[in-house]
Amino acid sequence: MTSPNFYELVGGEPTFRLLVDEFYAGVAEDPILRPLYPEEDLGPANERFRLFLIQYWGGPSTYSEQRGHPRLRMRHAPFRIASAERDAWLRQMRRAVDAIALPPEQEAVLWDYLERAAHFMVNADDPE
Ligand code: HEM
Repeated sequence: MTSPNFYELVGGEPTFRLLVDEFYAGVAEDPILRPLYPEEDLGPANERFRLFLIQYWGGPSTYSEQRGHPRLRMRHAPFRIASAERDAWLRQMRRAVDAIALPPEQEAVLWDYLERAAHFMVNADDPE
């Protein structure tokens, strides 16, 4: 028997669905983040992000079947992401991670990744 991957370990699709739903509930109310999202309906963005995370952590690769290679820095290039946007993103993500209440070791793995990925996505300097 092979050991479960991280996707399976944390509870599979329902866990990522809850995480991303909580995150986007926060984005919808966030004065820094909401204006960055080009579409009025956050549903499609929610689905893209959920499918990406599922694929990243070892679940089905539906994201790449639909969207191709993630190329996340390139896909974020149209949006100005300085430290204020990164920190707002991490604040909403922190709330969402708290909401899914994972065991501490799993939570640490997930949070470490999200924090590093958010820093990697910064593409603009802070205003003078
Ligand atoms: C898409 C903002 C960080 C994963 C987007 C979009 C915006 C955005 C405005 C477009 C919404 C859409 O139409 O899909 C931000 C901001 C970040 C950030 C302000 C702050 C650092 C991250 C991080 C990840 C991520 C850290 C991954 C861990 C994605 C994915 C998409 C996306 C997968 C959809 C890409 C596609 O297939 O088109 N993000 N993002 N984002 N973001 Fe972020």
